[in-house]
Amino acid sequence: MERILVTGAVGQIGSELVEALRKKYGNENVVAAGHKTKPTEEMRTSGPFEFIDVTSRESIERVVKKYNIDTIYHLAAILSAIGEEKPQLTFRVNIIGLYNILEIGLKYKLERIMVPSSIAVFGPQTPKENTPNETILRPTTMYGVSKVAGELLGDYYYRRFGLDFRGVRYPGIISSKTLPGGGTTDYAVEIFYEAIKKKKYKCYLRKDSTLPMMYMPDAIRGIIELAEADIKNLKHHSDYNLAAMSFSPEELTKEIQRIIPEFKCEYKPDSRQEIADSWPKSIDDSAAREEWGWKPEYNLQSMTKDMIQKLREKIFKGF
Ligand code: SER
Repeated sequence: MERILVTGAVGQIGSELVEALRKKYGNENVVAAGHKTKPTEEMRTSGPFEFIDVTSRESIERVVKKYNIDTIYHLAAILSAIGEEKPQLTFRVNIIGLYNILEIGLKYKLERIMVPSSIAVFGPQTPKENTPNETILRPTTMYGVSKVAGELLGDYYYRRFGLDFRGVRYPGIISSKTLPGGGTTDYAVEIFYEAIKKKKYKCYLRKDSTLPMMYMPDAIRGIIELAEADIKNLKHHSDYNLAAMSFSPEELTKEIQRIIPEFKCEYKPDSRQEIADSWPKSIDDSAAREEWGWKPEYNLQSMTKDMIQKLREKIFKGF
């Protein structure tokens, strides 16, 4: 892993992953790639940046050749809520985009391809509590369908062609740097901004809608640790369940109120509720723990404290 390309670099996870990878492997060795959204000044000036369209193989290939890439973190994807508004586009970006990455992986004999999967691979028939790694994968969203397809394709390319493909099933990710876009778990980030700025928030999920969640520092460390794990220890490849905490909007509200007592949350479920209802409440990540030593550091309390501190600095800076 000497020359890394990160697709979806301008997104919620990408923006922090690029920073972490540049720190670890050197700024010049990590190429950040976005689609249309402009990168931040920091991302553009700290190392190489390119625009690519993952639905066009030539567009990815140009960058792989130009920088002599040997590893791809493929993050470019459309999330669950937008996925239901635009299922055809989601198919193209998430499935054709991944297929292009896999074929480029073979053509250029890439050393490794990392692709996040999601709790969205599960569906209404999956056990909801402590969902096992191996279970029923019959999602009801296009995003979930695309992630199951991605996992299966990744495992197929590993077995059939020896392409080193690895992935984690992320829960909802909470972060202070870049806002998520178009997901069902986005409320768990928005709520912090509104709590700090307006002391009130209208949540689009029911107050008892429990979902698995994770704080960004754990998410970044997790995927880098998996990328660096000795392949001899890996029995899974594309589909590691990854857990950290589970909470409902009401439980998160209570935790925020410990720091911002005036904060009030109202609940007005919309179409995203149906997506949330199809996902597990908590997941079993023992395969990741056993095979490559995964362990989360943040829980609901420590994440909430850190989020509020970081966002207060960010929001009030410049006032
Ligand atoms: N956070 C994602 C979403 O809500 C789940 O992977 O779509």
